[in-house]
Amino acid sequence: MDRIRIVGGAKLTGTIPISGAKNAALPLMIASLLTDETLTLDNVPHLADVEQLIRILGNHGVDYSVNGRRAGEGETYSRTINFTAKRIVDTTAPYNLVSKMRASFWVIGPLVARMGEARVSLPGGCAIGTRPVDLFIDGLQALGTQIDIDNGYVVAKAPKGLIGARYVFPKVSVGATHVLMMAASLAKGTTVLENAAREPEIVNLAECLNAMGAKIEGAGTPTITIEGVAKLHGARVAVIPDRIETGTYAMAVAMTGGDVLLEHARPDLLENALDVLVQAGAEITPTNSGIRVRRNGSGIAAVDVTTAPFPGFPTDLQAQFMGLMTRAKGKSRITETIFENRFMHVQELARLGAKISLAGQTAIVEGVSSLKGAPVMATDLRASVSLVIAGLAAEGETTVHRVYHLDRGFERLEQKLTGCGATVERLSE
Ligand code: EPZ
Repeated sequence: MDRIRIVGGAKLTGTIPISGAKNAALPLMIASLLTDETLTLDNVPHLADVEQLIRILGNHGVDYSVNGRRAGEGETYSRTINFTAKRIVDTTAPYNLVSKMRASFWVIGPLVARMGEARVSLPGGCAIGTRPVDLFIDGLQALGTQIDIDNGYVVAKAPKGLIGARYVFPKVSVGATHVLMMAASLAKGTTVLENAAREPEIVNLAECLNAMGAKIEGAGTPTITIEGVAKLHGARVAVIPDRIETGTYAMAVAMTGGDVLLEHARPDLLENALDVLVQAGAEITPTNSGIRVRRNGSGIAAVDVTTAPFPGFPTDLQAQFMGLMTRAKGKSRITETIFENRFMHVQELARLGAKISLAGQTAIVEGVSSLKGAPVMATDLRASVSLVIAGLAAEGETTVHRVYHLDRGFERLEQKLTGCGATVERLSE
C-alpha cells in the first residue's frame, strides 16, 4: 500500500490547477444511464472513484471512450469522456461493486426511470456514519415506485413508468436530490421537490439533464420543479471545478503561509468557507483565472464553524479546517451536523501534537505553536487530506499511510503540492 511522506516547513508559492469536482462528475456520469445517446463530459477528474464508477456503469452496459489529450498532458489529468448507454444490459448493481462507493447506489434512479426496474445493493462508502437510504426509498415511492428489500438489495419496480409528485425531503440530502431529479426527468407529469439540496453539484446535474432535454427549474434553490419528458438525448457538459479541492488547498496555504493561485477555482462555489478563511487570517482575492490565496506574516486566528448543507460550511472541509485550527492562536469550536461520526482525524491529528477534545458533535481545538511530524493513518478521504495539511506545517517528517483514501478524491495531490515548493513524495511499500 502506498504512503505519502511529507517534510513540513515550506511555504506554498505558485499555481495549483483545480480539477473537475468528483462529487459533480459522479452524478453526471450516472445520468448517462438515462439515454441511449452519447453523453460527453468535459473536465472529468482522474480519480479512483471515477474509475470505479466507470466499472459499475460498464456492468449496466455503458460504453465509454476517452477523448485525446492535449500535448504535454499526462494521463492523470482531467479528461473528456464519452458515455453511451445504448442498451441497458443489466439492471442489477451487485454488492461487490456498490459496496466500494456509496454514490453508485444512485444508479437506482435512472435505472428504474428508464427500465422500470432496478436491483441495487445497499451501499458502502467512507466510514463517516451510518448513512441510511430511507430518503431515496420514500422519494422513489412518492414517484410511484414499488420498493422491496431483498437480501441486502433494494428492489425498485415501476413497470408502467414513474409518475410526477410533490415530495418534501424531511432532511436535506445531496444524493437523494440527485436521484429524484434524474428519476423525475423521465416521469409522467410534474414533480416538485421541496427542501432539496442546493449544492453546486445539484445545479451542475440539472444543467446536464436540461442539456439532455429535461425540463428542470429551480436547481440551487430549495424547490426544484421537474416536468417529465418521454425521452432524453445526448449532450455535452463540463464538470464544475472542485470546490472541496479548492477549499483544501486554500487551507493548506493558510496553514503554511505563502501565495498560491488556485487556477480555475470559482469563488461563488464556496463563499462561506472563503469567509471563514478570511476570518482566520488568509487574504483571498478572486481573479480572472481563479482564486489567489495568501497569508504572510500574520498568525492564524481561531474561528468557530458549524457544518451545514450548502450554502453553509461544507462537512467535506471540516477535517481540513480542523487541521488548520490546530495551529491557530486560541480555541476554536468545530461542530459537525451532517454526519455523526466524522471526527476520526482527531486522534491522528493528536499524534502530530494537536490539542483537541470532543464534546458530542463538537471538537474543541486549542491551537498549539508547533506540530511535530509522525506516522499517521488516513481513515477517510477528507480526513486523510487534513493530515497532509497538518504535515505540511509540522516540524520534520510526517508519513500518511493508507493513501488509497486520498486517491479517491484528490487528483495529482503530490505533484500539485511539490509544484508549490512542498516536499511531498509517494512511497510504495
Ligand atoms: C454527498 O454525500 C457527498 N458525496 C459527500 O461527500 C458529502 O459529505 C455529503 O453529500 C454532504 O455534503 C457525493 O457527492 C458523492 P447526503 P451524500 O445524502 O449524498 C443523511 C466526500 O468526502 N441521509 O447529503 O451521501 C445522511 O446519513 C463525500 O466527497 C439519511 O438520513 O450525503 C447524512 O447524515 C463524503 N437518509 C445526511 O443525510 C438518506 O436516505 C446528508 O447526507 C440519505 C441521507
